Amino acid sequence: MNMKYNRIIVPLIAVFALACGGGESEETSPPPKAAQKSTVEKEPSNSGKQTVEITLGSNDQMQYEQKEIKVPANSTVKLTLVHNGTMPKQAMGHNFVLLEAGTDIAAFGAEAAAAGIDKEHIPDSDAIIAHTGLIGGGESTTVTFEAPATGSYDFICSFPGHYALMKGKLIVD
Ligand code: CO
Repeated sequence: MNMKYNRIIVPLIAVFALACGGGESEETSPPPKAAQKSTVEKEPSNSGKQTVEITLGSNDQMQYEQKEIKVPANSTVKLTLVHNGTMPKQAMGHNFVLLEAGTDIAAFGAEAAAAGIDKEHIPDSDAIIAHTGLIGGGESTTVTFEAPATGSYDFICSFPGHYALMKGKLIVD
């Protein structure tokens, strides 16, 4: 009955022992495993699905800082879009809009432009799998969604004219 308890406590003691010992020893030793954690955090959810946390940067040069995002099939994706620029959203607004495979991006872009900034350039469209809000410099916005079926999906910023540069692929495998 103490198995679960021991599985948590014993590794903790091991990490503390390494941390304390490291300060007193001049020997080089590999860092504890905790320091080697991936930047993609995975945590179990109630359904048994893993949640993958993604941070997508963007800037005042009308660019996403990553052009490709990979997520495992059957995962829950928690994506945070960060605007690392300083320009307001009326001039350099960014969002993340994930589109169904086969969507005509130019046609969708025209619909999104027509939707207007009051709707944060999100048209009423079945082509949208998931989207964030529209943000300006210094802001961030998060959306959580279930990974779509295995495949490759376009994501764009739907602010008028931005999709030409602000476009990337979400790969589910
Ligand atoms: Co944009």
